[in-house]
Amino acid sequence: MNIHIFKNKKSLDEAVSRLLIEQVNKHPKSVLGLATGSTPLGIYKQLMDDHKRHKTSYQDVVTINLDEYVGLDKNSPASYQSFMKVNLFDALDINPKNTFIPDGETKDLDAACQAYDDIMKKHPIDIQLLGIGSNGHIGFNEPNTPFDSETHIIELALKTRTDNAVHFKSLDDVPTQAITMGIKSITNSKRILLVATGANKAQAVKGMIFGEIDPILPASVLQTHPNVDVFLDYQAASLILSSK
Ligand code: GLP
Repeated sequence: MNIHIFKNKKSLDEAVSRLLIEQVNKHPKSVLGLATGSTPLGIYKQLMDDHKRHKTSYQDVVTINLDEYVGLDKNSPASYQSFMKVNLFDALDINPKNTFIPDGETKDLDAACQAYDDIMKKHPIDIQLLGIGSNGHIGFNEPNTPFDSETHIIELALKTRTDNAVHFKSLDDVPTQAITMGIKSITNSKRILLVATGANKAQAVKGMIFGEIDPILPASVLQTHPNVDVFLDYQAASLILSSK
């Protein structure tokens, strides 16, 4: 794992977006694995600004998102469909047909999981952008998800629902289940960029880098991947800096 620590969020966002822009410019048919949450917002803003100023084109890019809530209307502002449209896709020249997000609304969730695995087989991910949950989850792979998992339905941990309640009217409105790329699907990506900011991620970040490789902390699986870059601000890095 290559660890990069930044003194502020802006320089972190610039460094990560630069890598993504370089990838798209070099390989216009890149497949990007994308994440939601507050963490990538600044990175997406950089991509949108760059598209406007330098005309980096996403016409042939394919994007595959990590996850989606189950049972939430796609058009609800809290759905990851809406999140991606508002915070990235609508401002790029990307073809909506090339943007994939798991279908959490369908009655046949098993078929939706299978369909998503088929999409990833057809479009292997070049770079996967990842956040991390405060309990160490990646995508929505909660603690104790098997490392060999593919796309599946997961019961969300109360901690995750509480953390994400800010995007809903109340905790009760946060769905209890999600459909997520599995851990194997994530680690199949050729390159992984994991981003974590803020003190509430410090414990999970320390475990991810120095802890045992164990499904209890899903992100610890990244120690086994040959091409991972971790981007941290000082707050998220605080426990690894103090343990040196
Ligand atoms: C959600 C998403 C994850 C994301 C995590 C952290 O649970 N499913 O993909 O990494 O939240 O979110 P945030 O960046 O808002 O802290």
